[in-house]
Amino acid sequence: MKASRINRYGGPEVLFVADIEKPVPNDNEVLVKVHAASINPLDWHVMRGTPYFMRALTGLLKPKKGFKTLGADVAGEVEQIGKGVTSLKLGDHVFGDIFNYGYGAIAEYVCVPVEALVLKPENISFEEAAGVPVAALTAYHGLNKYGAVRAGSEVLINGASGGVGTFAVQLAKFYGANVTGVCSTRNIDLVKDCGATDVIDYTETDLMKLDRKFDLIIDMVGNLSLSDYKKLLTAHGNCAVVGFGGMSHLMSIGLLGGKRIKMVDFKSNQKDMQYLANLLENKDISTVIDRSYSLEETSEAITYLETSRARGKVVIIPDKG
Ligand SMILES: NC(=O)c1ccc[n+]([C@@H]2O[C@H](COP(=O)([O-])OP(=O)(O)OC[C@H]3O[C@@H](n4cnc5c(N)ncnc54)[C@H](OP(=O)(O)O)[C@@H]3O)[C@@H](O)[C@H]2O)c1
Repeated sequence: MKASRINRYGGPEVLFVADIEKPVPNDNEVLVKVHAASINPLDWHVMRGTPYFMRALTGLLKPKKGFKTLGADVAGEVEQIGKGVTSLKLGDHVFGDIFNYGYGAIAEYVCVPVEALVLKPENISFEEAAGVPVAALTAYHGLNKYGAVRAGSEVLINGASGGVGTFAVQLAKFYGANVTGVCSTRNIDLVKDCGATDVIDYTETDLMKLDRKFDLIIDMVGNLSLSDYKKLLTAHGNCAVVGFGGMSHLMSIGLLGGKRIKMVDFKSNQKDMQYLANLLENKDISTVIDRSYSLEETSEAITYLETSRARGKVVIIPDKG
């Protein structure tokens, strides 16, 4: 089977399509025929082995076994089941975030433990489903676990037009919040369509010069300092920092952010995925797909994502002609 692989850390040039043996599921796993996978900044961090602290997980000098095939977000069809699997059957359509469950979604097949997967709603495509897991789970955790979004909450979404941002805006709107999204001029309509009441065009307006306060900030960009967050927050407001703004940004939040300003860090789980699957089925949220690429075009897809200009999600379709 074909898989999008790396044997060393580096830019998109280290990616190649390899013909490797089709994996066989363990007792608690299923073999998924991948119909679509999506890429996240996480994947180019793994590819580049940066920030360096990630290498404690992915391999010090070169990617270790479980990180040679990229891809955390998978949607596909169950083609084989492990001996102990009772919750899924052959032919089921599934999707999930497999970063902590084996990784390697950008391939024709991947083995996944059942606890990482939920059934894909029939009324959404594999492409749409593949765009959901990492991005929507991150948005969901930022809004609900790091903050406590409520009807009427004033929520600021910095980086509102990207993979996480488009879900964060839709989810916050779904909870009845008043959403202010930050994006560039070309993405104003997109962010409004996702449900933002106000949009701040960062190319025209300096957010820090506005006299506004927010109950919750979800920051995908990482270009605000700790004192910026404090200035923008109401007295009891919270900030979920999603985007990596460099080591000093990370350290200032870790050391001085306290209980109200925190870096988002979570492990995906079936309960949260099922919750999102229900929202997708009810059309309360949907995936904004920017571009899709074939497996052979993974390096082009990652090159594009690394520009930080993606509008919604970038998807890989292994059997895209
Ligand atoms: N902590 C976690 O668990 C976790 C999970 C997922 C993602 N992340 C991190 O979160 C960040 C965002 O992820 P993503 O998937 O949303 O990335 P993405 O899809 O690549 O984000 C691209 C978007 O960012 C916007 N953007 C770029 N610079 C901006 C700026 N200065 N102000 C406002 N918007 C800006 C772009 O809009 P314009 O073209 O309009 O500028 C574009 O639409 C990444 O750093 C990723 O590593 C963390």
